[in-house]
Amino acid sequence: MSGTTGIGIIGAGMISEQYLTNLTVYPDVTVHVVGDLDVDRATAQAEKWGVAQGGDVDAVLGHPDVDIVINLTIPAAHEQVSVAALQAGKHVWTEKPLAVDRAAGRRILDAAEAAGRRVGCAPDTVLGPGFQTAKRAIAEGLIGTPYAAATGFQWQGPDVIHPNPDFLFARGGGPLFDMGPYYFAGLVHLFGSVSGVAALGGRAATERSVQVGPRAGEAFPVEVPTHLSVLTEFAAGQQAQSLLSFDTAIFRHGVFEVHGTEGTLVLPDPNYFTGAIQLYRPAADRAGIAAQQPELVPVVGAETGRGLGALDMARAIAEGREHLATGELGYHVLDVLESVAEAVEARAFIDVASRVETPAAVAADFDPFARTL
Ligand SMILES: NC(=O)c1ccc[n+]([C@@H]2O[C@H](COP(=O)([O-])OP(=O)(O)OC[C@H]3O[C@@H](n4cnc5c(N)ncnc54)[C@H](O)[C@@H]3O)[C@@H](O)[C@H]2O)c1
Repeated sequence: MSGTTGIGIIGAGMISEQYLTNLTVYPDVTVHVVGDLDVDRATAQAEKWGVAQGGDVDAVLGHPDVDIVINLTIPAAHEQVSVAALQAGKHVWTEKPLAVDRAAGRRILDAAEAAGRRVGCAPDTVLGPGFQTAKRAIAEGLIGTPYAAATGFQWQGPDVIHPNPDFLFARGGGPLFDMGPYYFAGLVHLFGSVSGVAALGGRAATERSVQVGPRAGEAFPVEVPTHLSVLTEFAAGQQAQSLLSFDTAIFRHGVFEVHGTEGTLVLPDPNYFTGAIQLYRPAADRAGIAAQQPELVPVVGAETGRGLGALDMARAIAEGREHLATGELGYHVLDVLESVAEAVEARAFIDVASRVETPAAVAADFDPFARTL
């Protein structure tokens, strides 16, 4: 396996399943070790996926063949694990959000700079062929000049399926921090930096109760807004409106529409790697509006899943280019999320201070299953 980039995973929970599915088959990377506070869980995941070693966190940080640590711990542990990995001389790919607040996010980026190592940050769903086909089409002028977007994620909330849902209704949770990263990262991939946000936030209930599992019936407080209407302004002049809710009986997700001077493009759900792309053109008359049907834009690119961003980072390190989902982008999205929370509190428009380069598009012929290293 020489010539491939060495991977170590920290955090052997739910999402490690998806990462291991892909990272164990991409020829450019080799997963050497899985670590977790729960060593038995790490060992079981390593065995299940044919990874040579399972162990504790130090087994990953001290592994000589690990170039990139994939941080799949819970958000509250992201900073500690990412900084420790950077200080051990590893590059880091971390699940979203980058950290729980701006200060912690900044400490991760500072640690990377001090160590001369890279940070990449989820979501990488928006690097998938669905979103990227749409991104390339917009860049090539399919809908003229894009000037606005509308996004939406709404349902009754994760307490209907999660046996321990409290954290999803506490600081760092809510639809804003849980689902917002997909929608705002998607918008930044298309339009570049956000310059300001306004938002209203409310909650249908101040207390909810666990609905499934052994704690069913137990009440817990709703500490954060669970229904948010956000207006976003981009430094390049576009605007977006976004609904994020855990308070509606209707389940509607993945609404992601971009309006341009010559049409509207409906993008795939930014929480998935692919999906349908629909193009609407302005109609010529009233009858045309009544009969309006979208054209389907074919998706180009290999189907894949989580781990794509880490793979891009491995190739970018080898090729000496910038990777696509940078820690700076993760920081900017975190800055936007915190600014939205502040806008709700202050009932004011909040300027977003950080700026990030608009990431390049993934090439149409990007093949995760090719050996390039
Ligand atoms: N579950 C999902 O569907 C999903 C989807 C997208 C992203 N994510 C993100 O993935 C991350 C992990 O989510 P999950 O659902 O897999 O969580 P999880 O609770 O199932 O797993 C987290 C694992 O991290 C371990 N861990 C916690 N703190 C640690 C520390 N300090 N050192 C080492 N190990 C530690 C835990 O023991 C656990 O095994 C989160 O950032 C989440 O936002 C999850």
